[in-house]
Amino acid sequence: MYNFDQIIDPSGTSRMKYGTPPEGAPADTIPMWIADMDFQTAPEVIDALKKRVEHGIFGYTSLPQSYRNAVVGWMDRRHNWKIQPEWIQVAPGIIPALKTAVTAFTDPGDGVLVQTPVYYMFMEIINLMGRQVVESPLVEQPDGYVMDLEDFERQIVDHHIKLFIFCNPHNPVNRVWTAEELRSLGEICKKHGVIVVSDEIHHDFIFKGYQFIPFAAADPSFADFCVTCTAPSKTFNCAGLKTSNTIISNPELRARYGKVAKEFGQTGIDPLSVCAVEAMYTYGDRWVDELVAYIWDNFCFLNQFLQDNMPQLRLTQPECLYLAWINVRGMNMNGDAFYQEALRQGVWIEDGGAFGASGANFVRMNLACPRSVLAEALSRLKKITSPEQ
Ligand SMILES: Cc1ncc(COP(=O)(O)O)c(C=O)c1O
Repeated sequence: MYNFDQIIDPSGTSRMKYGTPPEGAPADTIPMWIADMDFQTAPEVIDALKKRVEHGIFGYTSLPQSYRNAVVGWMDRRHNWKIQPEWIQVAPGIIPALKTAVTAFTDPGDGVLVQTPVYYMFMEIINLMGRQVVESPLVEQPDGYVMDLEDFERQIVDHHIKLFIFCNPHNPVNRVWTAEELRSLGEICKKHGVIVVSDEIHHDFIFKGYQFIPFAAADPSFADFCVTCTAPSKTFNCAGLKTSNTIISNPELRARYGKVAKEFGQTGIDPLSVCAVEAMYTYGDRWVDELVAYIWDNFCFLNQFLQDNMPQLRLTQPECLYLAWINVRGMNMNGDAFYQEALRQGVWIEDGGAFGASGANFVRMNLACPRSVLAEALSRLKKITSPEQ
């Protein structure tokens, strides 16, 4: 059994998560905002890195076949997705990969489609690259969110969409899209010639009873117009290593993407990332299984706590991820007001409004921490009372 209860002191690491909290928060504020875990990565990975560090030479490094094979093996074993080693291109993170895709497959001024609420960097990247954000909002229902496919198709037609950035599974609404949803969505994109960039960074955090399906594998024809962005960074808590994998089977799309990636200087990889990714994707299975079970127990702990102590808050059904999406409207507050109150009590979460206007009544809370930390954070949040009570 691995130990996820251990508290790791962040001092001396410059971890962004533990940076100075926003104004109004006490010094001992618990950070539960950015999607970064508080667990040490798998011991097998730490051992492999120690061995590599002892070698002492960290020169220019080629991407070895063993790295590609490790990625292929993980996708096959964990996601039942058969990919070829040459489909993989390494990027310095998914955000740079998304910028590359937006640049490669659209022109300045074009609309790029997203399903809100969604990871805020999607919108930021689209704006930064001089394109327009086009939203097709997800629809909140009592048992979770669904897609409005009629609206989705209307947005494609009305805005001449060439590119859709898809979040699969979805951050922040915690949905693992079903085969039927993926097929319906994909058929619309195929019909209108829309390229799908499927961000699958959270694909390893899937709870019992749900089945993650890579968009490119949802139908044999979908891989042809799909650019898949994956990374071991969320799964193994190594976002600081800045390595992700872009997987494209269509050689023409791969070449167009690759050309822009080269123009952006995204060439090569660092030796520690090669070592870490190979170790993660070769020896990490059991660690990930135990990690996901621990996180699920944290969700259950949170749910029970809310029911017993703050029944006005509504937790969105967690199907995946380690980020809780909580509706705070029952406290007569919006997400921003709750976020501010939480800060005052010493808990740093995120205002759901950052993920798009439809997230305004929500907050997002990172549960990838030891249970004792979660318990302390919840006891602080309990002190928040509705302004109208
Ligand atoms: C959906 C999604 N994509 C991408 C990222 C960031 O990826 P990277 O650190 O590889 O740029 C995050 C981080 O939270 C995310 O939630």
